[in-house]
Amino acid sequence: MRLIHSVAELRAALRGETETAFVPTMGNLHAGHIALAEQAKQAGRPVVASIFVNPLQFGASEDFEHYPRTLDADCAQLAAVGTDIVFAPSAAEMYPEPQTFQVLPPLAGELCGAQRPGHFQGVATVVLKLFNIVQPRYAVFGKKDYQQLFILKGLARQFNLPIQIVEGETVRAEDGLALSSRNAYLSPAERAEAPRLHAVLRAAAAQLGSTDFAQIEAQATATLQVHGWAVDYVAVRSRATLLPPQGEETNLVVLAAARLGATRLIDNIEAVSNRV
Ligand code: PAJ
Repeated sequence: MRLIHSVAELRAALRGETETAFVPTMGNLHAGHIALAEQAKQAGRPVVASIFVNPLQFGASEDFEHYPRTLDADCAQLAAVGTDIVFAPSAAEMYPEPQTFQVLPPLAGELCGAQRPGHFQGVATVVLKLFNIVQPRYAVFGKKDYQQLFILKGLARQFNLPIQIVEGETVRAEDGLALSSRNAYLSPAERAEAPRLHAVLRAAAAQLGSTDFAQIEAQATATLQVHGWAVDYVAVRSRATLLPPQGEETNLVVLAAARLGATRLIDNIEAVSNRV
């Protein structure tokens, strides 16, 4: 496996490749990321993973400075599953001059975007840059970050990018907690409470025979609040649009973001409305 830091060297290493499979990450890798690398290997070769903590997608009060940086351990994990190249650029390599941002549709200001203004613009900007640098045929993203995946699929479609977006299922701990680099911030007591987010979403998904989505959202929110969570949102949405479901739509997703102490966790569950 090669570790490459410069755009020029990466381009030289990938010249002529037409079936590259790409996994963008911010590092501090866990089994969820590694599952994406395995999926990439099934999609195409060579497999390229990027590790870059992207300053553009962090708000001023967020954890950019403290985001865990574990390059050596990350490379060992990626090598073990047959990754061919790790691209780990510096911020100066990625942003040598003031950066033009990708503009996004209003959905980018909803759900997670409501609490994190500019976040998805920062994500879309870095992902477009990485796509142009790596020029992959396939790019793999996890459903754990459901809104991110939705926005990036839209970007690829709307700009006719010649890239197939591959979706990875959310990898969870045995107790249901979705794996996340931010789980490391949880105290033992918070870690014990954290699986409730998934449990509450499952309970909400099981109620989708009702179309009173506001009631389902309110009940899930109340349950989390009783157990000490600060809830950013619980939302029943259409999988097709990520907007509130219209009419007879049955392919739904329930998404949530909530904070335990200082740690913000997100999760979601796809569900089919079983109303008749
Ligand atoms: P990061 O949070 O490192 O996540 C990298 C990829 O891993 C994303 O596609 C994310 O959805 C996926 N992932 C994270 N946890 C997962 C889990 N438990 N199961 C399955 N997949 C999981 O998302 C980002 O980085 C950044 O925003 C990025 C796209 C790299 C742009 O900077």
